[in-house]
This record gives sequence, C-alpha cells and structure tokens, in this order.
Amino acid sequence: MTVRIAVLGAGPSGLAQLRAFDAARRAGIEVPEIVCFEKQSDLGGMWNYTWRTGLDEHGEPVHASMYRYLWSNGPKECLEFADYSFEEHFGRPIASYPPRPVLRDYIMGRIERSGLRDQIRFNTAVHAVEYDEQTEKFSVTVRELEQDRLVTEEFDYVVVATGHFSTPNAPSFKGLNQFPGRVLHAHDFRDACEFAGKDLLLIGSSYSAEDIGTQCYKYGAKSITFSYRSAPMGYEWPEAFSERPLLERVEGNTAYFVDGSSCDVDAIILCTGYQHHFPFLPDELTLRTSNRLYPKGLYKGVFWIDNPKLIYLGMQDQYYTFNMFDAQAWLARDVILGRITLPDRAAMVADSEAWFAREEATEGVNDDIDFQAAYVRDLVDRTDYPDFAIEEVAEMFKQWMRDKSEGILDYRNKSYRSTITGTLAPLHHTPWMEAMDDSLEAFLRDSTPIEEQLGEPVELAEEPLRKRA
Ligand SMILES: Cc1cc2nc3c(=O)[nH]c(=O)nc-3n(C[C@H](O)[C@H](O)[C@H](O)COP(=O)(O)OP(=O)(O)OC[C@H]3O[C@@H](n4cnc5c(N)ncnc54)[C@H](O)[C@@H]3O)c2cc1C
Ligand SMILES: NC(=O)c1ccc[n+]([C@@H]2O[C@H](COP(=O)([O-])OP(=O)(O)OC[C@H]3O[C@@H](n4cnc5c(N)ncnc54)[C@H](OP(=O)(O)O)[C@@H]3O)[C@@H](O)[C@H]2O)c1
Repeated sequence: MTVRIAVLGAGPSGLAQLRAFDAARRAGIEVPEIVCFEKQSDLGGMWNYTWRTGLDEHGEPVHASMYRYLWSNGPKECLEFADYSFEEHFGRPIASYPPRPVLRDYIMGRIERSGLRDQIRFNTAVHAVEYDEQTEKFSVTVRELEQDRLVTEEFDYVVVATGHFSTPNAPSFKGLNQFPGRVLHAHDFRDACEFAGKDLLLIGSSYSAEDIGTQCYKYGAKSITFSYRSAPMGYEWPEAFSERPLLERVEGNTAYFVDGSSCDVDAIILCTGYQHHFPFLPDELTLRTSNRLYPKGLYKGVFWIDNPKLIYLGMQDQYYTFNMFDAQAWLARDVILGRITLPDRAAMVADSEAWFAREEATEGVNDDIDFQAAYVRDLVDRTDYPDFAIEEVAEMFKQWMRDKSEGILDYRNKSYRSTITGTLAPLHHTPWMEAMDDSLEAFLRDSTPIEEQLGEPVELAEEPLRKRA
C-alpha cells in the first residue's frame, strides 16, 4: 500500500516539505504520495497580499497579515534557500531588503521550476484531522471551497504547516468600545495611506509595532506613539515618535498610560502578536505554545512526541525562516522515508526538554540568535540538505540588530553578502524611506553593482562560502 502524506498549507513551510521529497525523488528514491491542502487560491502563504480582512469569499478566516508596502525586515541573505539562491532565481544579484512581491516571487519560483504545483489542492480548507489508533491512520476532512463540499481521505502522516502569525492575540483596554476612531489588530492592517495626517497609538513593542509604525510615518502619519508592556524598543526615534508604558484606559480621543501620562490619538492599532491556532485538530494532537524559539512537546522542534506521525513545521518564533523550514522538512522527510529512526519516547522527551531549558537560559537577542543557529545546525547536520554557513548567518543577524540600533529608518539601505554565492548585494537604487513603489518591477529596475556605486572595488571572500562539507 502506498504511504500517503497530507501537508496542510502551501506557505514556505509546506512548500519546503514538497521540495524535500522532490529532491529525494530526483535522487532516485521512491517517495510516498503527497497531497498538499491549501485554502487560498495560490501558493505563497503569508506572502500573498489581499485587500480582504475578516472572512474570505468562502467564509473562511482570511490568513493574510501582510500589508501593502511591506519590505523584508531582515536581510534576504539570512533567509536564502541553500538549494536555490536569489541569483539563480533573478539571474543577477539584487539588493538585500526586497519588498514582499519580490520575496513571494522567489518562494514561488523554486516550486514552479520543480513542477510541484500539481501536488497542491487549492481552495481546499482543512476542517478536521482525526487519528485512529486501530488503523494507525489519520482521516483528514477538507472543505472544497468552490464546490462547497466536505471530503475525507486517509493518510499515514500529517504535516501541519498552517503558520502561526494569522490568528490575532487581541487584548482589550478600558474605553476602547467608546473610542471614536478606528481600532484594529495588525492582522487587519492593510494600507498605511489610510493614516496619513493622523496621530496613531500602537500597542506592542515588537516587529509589527516597529514596522507598522515606521511604515505609517513613511506614508504621512503625523505622530506615532508606541505603548509597551514589558520594555520599550529603545531605538533613536525621530521626533514624531514616542514610547510610553502600557495603555491604561481611553476616554474619548485621549489615551492614558500606566505612568499617568496621556496623549490624544486618532486611531489605535493592536500590534500584540498572534496565537498558535489549530481549530482542525483534536485536543490530544494540538500544539499549545506561546511564540517562542523552542515550543514544548515537539522532538527536534518538529515531531509531536505523543504521536510522531504528526509533524509540525515552522511553529517557532523566527530569526531564521525559509532555510530553517527547509532544514525541518528535510528531517521530517528522512524520518518518513525510514532513513532516520526516531529514538524512543523517553529520549525524545529528554532531548526536547534539554532544548527547552537551553532556550530558557538565553539572555538577550544575541543569545537567542545563537540558540536558533544551533538548532538549525542540529537539523542540517542530520540530512543531505545542502550545508550553508549557518553560524555566519547568525553573525549577519547580529549585524542587522546593530544596523537597526544605528538607524531604524536606514537599516534597510544596507548591503549583505550571500553565504550561498559569495556575492555582495548591490545597493538599492532608492533609500527605503523614499521608495514608495513596492512592486517587483520598480525594485528590479537598475540594481547597480555595489562596486560601481561606491566607486571602488569590494573584496570578495577568499573561501567559497557555500558549503563546509
Ligand atoms: C506581517 C508579517 C511580516 C513578516 N515578514 C517577514 C520577513 O520580512 N521575513 C521573513 O523571513 N519572515 C517574515 N514573516 C514571517 C512569515 O510568517 C514567514 O516568512 C513564513 O510565511 C512562514 O511560513 P509558513 O508556511 O510556516 O506559514 P504561512 O506563510 O503563514 O503559510 C501557512 C499556509 O497555510 C494555509 N492554511 C492555514 N490554515 C489552513 C487550513 N485550515 N486549511 C488549508 N490551508 C490552511 C494558509 O492559507 C497559508 O497558505 C512575517 C510575518 C508576518 C505576519
Ligand atoms: N516587515 C516585516 O518583515 C514584518 C512586519 C511585521 C511583523 N513581522 C513578523 O511578524 C511576526 C510577528 O511579530 P509581532 O510583532 O506581531 O508579534 P510578537 O513578536 O509576538 O510580539 C508581540 C508583541 O505584543 C506585545 N503584547 C502581547 N500581549 C500584550 C498585551 N496583552 N498587552 C500589551 N502588549 C502585549 C508583546 O509584549 P511583551 O514584549 O510584553 O511580550 C510584544 O511586544 C514576526 O516574525 C515578525 O518578524 C515582520
């Protein structure tokens, strides 16, 4: 009987799983039947933009949390696939911080070139997954959205790759019900132009707050007030920005903070993060975790310890993204193919608890980056996923943090060197604050090589940076 695998979601994580099996197939290995269920009409996951918020045209929750004019918030060299470089995709070097459509094109390109689209059933939302102890199979019930019909099929393995930045964590604050302006969560934020000329209050002090705040400023907001729960971001903000402690209440247009200070605002955006949410899973298979680097209950951050035929991809908080999803998918593939045998339950628990404790012991961002680098290293060393300079990428992340501290509105104008090709990225033709057009065409126009822009030669690394082995 053919082994069947259900991959839930065709975002970067789910696509990594398809690509991993394809790599094995191309190496002459017989691979199981794979069916990928995707509720959207195209692949790309979070990287697809839609104007929709709330429910989609079929009544399904809209997955997208990305907005117009979103640019990568980290250098593309940190997320580059080890088996498919940006240069291979675009045919030439491009700048380090691309806007969303460029990254989407890159993600899609790897799959289109492998011819893997046929494995994806689009417009198909997973509604229920059950596991039968007797048959040792999963039944997966999906709604075919265009036919409005429920269909159930059996699988030997289920790979959950449905993402975890889609279901809002949305706390309430006293007085919000009477606030006269717009109140929304970052998940529903779409277009900064809506807030031109406005005084904005953003709750939260992480990536969404920082990016939506700077984005709104770039597109004409009058002032940005951030309100933090634990700690301020602490960047050297331009005059229009301020950081205040947590919002205590709102009266009319006035926001009052726990330190007794207040200010008048026109709109409030909750940048308060997301929940891991798996409404299609029964209790005993559901991962329950906060947004952290090592969620509990998963062996190697991937296998559900209580039933390792259930596999979760991409459930960690993320410095590394696309290349980490690949590393996870390659490991999952090799376990499914029987090339790697999982240890017994006690050993899986011990390993997972050791990683969990190691994360608990980290202090500060640099430690967190090193932790995730060590995790990715642990995965990559177990499979034939092309080795890449994981530790060097960790140093790039640290440099990225320093760049942000030096200029929160300028860091996207920096240039990084690919660890895959060794090429130093050209500078973008327009500084980020002045680059209002986020289209692929505008971005790719005239990326002058950095040597020409600087008017002097730039030394390339002596060692090929691609592979250690
Ligand atoms: C606003 C924002 C900006 C970000 N910016 C960056 C960035 O600059 N760089 C970076 O590296 N990362 C960024 N990220 C992180 C981003 O989430 C990852 O890059 C990546 O998209 C995660 O991939 P994934 O496949 O795990 O999840 P997703 O991309 O979220 O894909 C999950 C897929 O599962 C599908 N799905 C969900 N539920 C079901 C269901 N019941 N049935 C069928 N299909 C389902 C969804 O439609 C989706 O296609 C950002 C995230 C957000 C929210
Ligand atoms: N351009 C881009 O590339 C871009 C833009 C936006 C987002 N992203 C990505 O999106 C992902 C999610 O980022 P995120 O910022 O949405 O989530 P996040 O990193 O999980 O941060 C959540 C924030 O909400 C705060 N918070 C949570 N509950 C709160 C409450 N009850 N009251 C007040 N504050 C509360 C947290 O404060 P504490 O610190 O106190 O916990 C934290 O500051 C990240 O991977 C990020 O990289 C990328």
